[in-house]
Amino acid sequence: MEYIDLRSDTVTKPTPEMREAMAEAEVGDDVYRDDPTVNRLEEVAAEKLGKEAALFVPSGTMGNLIALLVHCQRGDEVIVGKLSHIYLNEAGGMSALGGIQPCPIQNQPDGTLALDDVLASIRSEDVHHPITRLVCLENTQNICGGVPLTAEYTRQVGDLAHHHDLFLHIDGARIFNSAAAQNVAVNELVEPADSVMFCLSKGLAAPVGSMLVGGQKFITRARHIRKMLGGGMRQVGVIAAAGLISLERMARRLSEDHARAKKLADGLRQVKGLVVDANSPFTNMVYLNLSEDVPADAHQITQKMKDFGVLVDPENTRRFRLVTHYWIDDQAVEQTISAFKQTLN
Ligand SMILES: Cc1ncc(COP(=O)(O)O)c(C=O)c1O
Repeated sequence: MEYIDLRSDTVTKPTPEMREAMAEAEVGDDVYRDDPTVNRLEEVAAEKLGKEAALFVPSGTMGNLIALLVHCQRGDEVIVGKLSHIYLNEAGGMSALGGIQPCPIQNQPDGTLALDDVLASIRSEDVHHPITRLVCLENTQNICGGVPLTAEYTRQVGDLAHHHDLFLHIDGARIFNSAAAQNVAVNELVEPADSVMFCLSKGLAAPVGSMLVGGQKFITRARHIRKMLGGGMRQVGVIAAAGLISLERMARRLSEDHARAKKLADGLRQVKGLVVDANSPFTNMVYLNLSEDVPADAHQITQKMKDFGVLVDPENTRRFRLVTHYWIDDQAVEQTISAFKQTLN
């Protein structure tokens, strides 16, 4: 059975065009920098993000970890959102592998970190204190609703960070969704950042891979640390070929996913038993709760939805996240609304 899979945009399978490009990709040993397809992908990524250089990495988690390991020394502190992926969902890598201490601060409902909170979290020069080295933003902010952060806000955080000799890293796993939703160029959104990680394997539909971008010196060091972590890959042009299609074609179509997320949210607002978050969606994520009068919990509903051929992601016992992507068409949206209606009937 072919499921309608709304659990995440990470479930996207490669497009037919990607499969063809992968089959025909020119390859070489990328650890020797001999893979022309990877070299091209890194050039295109750096150019699109407006940075000097880029590095192809196996996952977003590894990309973020490498960035933190380049920017920070052991014992340094990183200001992160309490609801950020780096803090919550990367297995504590910064502490376990880098000896880096997170300084988690509240995310505002719009996904931002309040400038006053960032400022208040910067440690003073004191022998007792860790050294604050880095601020991390997440754009789009996933748990706050897939909400995009603006170029203006990012500029303010960048100015604040740099004024205090801190670096700014952006977890831009879905930065192209953010750019599409705001109709701004992606390089404008990340201009103040010293480093950015973005994923090819989410809404951009590549099967594997993320990119880390930044200055030449940063990327040279990042390449070294990628090797240290076992992320030096060999004839990986077979995967990079799909990533090039992500950047050249898939980034341009993300507003279709956003429009379908809106259609889905509008439809689900009419379903008795569901309460869609007030402003959802901002991009490709619809967040909703079961209303209080529904006796079943989100896990039971998830199972019933599966019986109707729809996979959804329960966030907790009353809450769902539904994510649209390349493989969700208008018919899938209609079928999902209908499956929820039947499930909650
Ligand atoms: C905001 C954000 N950052 C980073 C990642 C990590 O990406 P990966 O799953 O490729 O390690 C994810 C994955 O879902 C994410 O949502």
